[in-house]
Amino acid sequence: MAKKRVAILISGRGSNMASLIAAAKDDGYPAQIALVLSNRPDAPGLVTAKSQGITTAVVDHTMYGKDREGFERALQDVLTAHRIELVCLAGFMRLLTPWFVGQWQGRMLNIHPALLPAFKGLHTHERALEAGVKTHGATVHFVSAEMDSGPIIAQVEVPVLPGDTADTLGARVLEAEHRIYPQALRQVAEGRA
Ligand code: GAR
Repeated sequence: MAKKRVAILISGRGSNMASLIAAAKDDGYPAQIALVLSNRPDAPGLVTAKSQGITTAVVDHTMYGKDREGFERALQDVLTAHRIELVCLAGFMRLLTPWFVGQWQGRMLNIHPALLPAFKGLHTHERALEAGVKTHGATVHFVSAEMDSGPIIAQVEVPVLPGDTADTLGARVLEAEHRIYPQALRQVAEGRA
């Protein structure tokens, strides 16, 4: 079966992006990373992607001011030009309009550093520690118009340990993210999600 053409959308470091690129190097993996697209020209993940021989592109959201749909139409043009079939958000820190989400219904995944529906939004590790939960984790889900919502594809639980700080807990969750995102993309690319 032909490998699905995937674009990874990033805004920063791109460690989840790197885990998807690594997984996709396997001959038996059902997806290929055809594009890494950033809304920030200085995203460190762009350098990592290029060093792996992956095609990169930038659509700088600051060029569009308050015109969110203009920004997204530019994103869509790039995705279309690269014949992208699936989109993986990986630390892509822009809220998306219902129009863009609608273009990618059932074909756009996001990873979030919490056990959704708990702790949507930012600073999830700090909030998990404040709430005193014993188990935290990460979620891969299909993107819907509402932020950090949409059908869950995969979740992984991560224990909160005595003495954890947001940094130590976040590092443990990030390792788990790097495991589940490639698994979740595999499920979707194989039509099993
Ligand atoms: C990851 O922890 C990801 O789950 C989170 O941003 C980080 C990006 O790191 N995403 C969200 O919070 C989305 N709501 P990375 O650039 O190293 O993959």
